[in-house]
Amino acid sequence: MPRQSILIARAISPEVVDFLRQHFDVHTNQDDVVWSPEELAQQLQGKDGVLTTGSQTINAALLAACPQLKVVSNMAVGYNNFDVPAMTAAGVQGTNAPDVLTETTADFGFALLMATARRVTESEHYLRAGLWKEWRYDLFAGSEVHGSTLGIIGMGRIGQGIAKRGAHGFGMKVVYHNRSRLTPELEAECKASYVSKEELLKTADHVVLVLPFTPENRHTIGAAELAQMKPTATLINIARGGIVDDAALAQALRAKTIAAAGLDVFEGEPAVHPDLLTVPNVVLTPHIASATMTTRRAMAQLAADNLVAVLGGQAPRTPVNQPDAAARALRWA
Ligand code: 8YV
Repeated sequence: MPRQSILIARAISPEVVDFLRQHFDVHTNQDDVVWSPEELAQQLQGKDGVLTTGSQTINAALLAACPQLKVVSNMAVGYNNFDVPAMTAAGVQGTNAPDVLTETTADFGFALLMATARRVTESEHYLRAGLWKEWRYDLFAGSEVHGSTLGIIGMGRIGQGIAKRGAHGFGMKVVYHNRSRLTPELEAECKASYVSKEELLKTADHVVLVLPFTPENRHTIGAAELAQMKPTATLINIARGGIVDDAALAQALRAKTIAAAGLDVFEGEPAVHPDLLTVPNVVLTPHIASATMTTRRAMAQLAADNLVAVLGGQAPRTPVNQPDAAARALRWA
């Protein structure tokens, strides 16, 4: 029986490529070419599985063009690049990569919060430009982190990690808003209180967004929400581009109706709204919240384990759907 064939759609940790070679006939993209949807469909001809990152769109058209494809394994916790109903209907198993990135991503959320509140990058640019001539009492004076109120929108695993860092490490009062309330035990562990979105926006000194992208969550923070925030507040987005209306945010930052923002994700990234590039009170990073070599390797390994499980006829560790049985049978015939 010929070996099953898989595609790794972007460059990943070489050790995980070697691991996959023990199981499959592997086609890699270690040169990290960003393929168009047509090129991806072309590369997927005859492949049984694919390891994707958040930058490949998996939709009905692609699945129809790749009738042999059985599993799409995302090396990301977020899977808004998947059309999950289309995958289910087409009999294709989808998987994601949660948990292994939780603490690393929560660390980064806090790093971005600290950098934003304490104006780290803005002051560094000033220094590098040779503008630092004298100490001044209010030179890049920022806002307090310890003892302030942390508001978290989206209280999944990463949100909880940020809450614990804030409450236990920095003595912050933590409030959160989420689709569903945490259990009393988890609320106690995170020292977090459930509030409405409106109360959170009005009371938080630092608002951190950690919710998944869905069409309903688009522009969770727009002009109306920004207007409810304190003029001294900061906004941190480590969730997904599109959860914030970036144009409205740039306006609020320029008008200083909020103090500052820290953004790791952008609407239409890697493009960044041009107005965000010209306001000084925003820290901008290129979607690196999970980027440590250890975590990126663990994410790739989990994605690889899911491919091995599914193509070996086993249940994946972290499925995102239950494929339609009849459609699945056609792909496995
Ligand atoms: C990834 C992420 O780096 O896991 C996620 O959802 O946003 C990031 O950790 C990115 O999606 C690449 O797959």
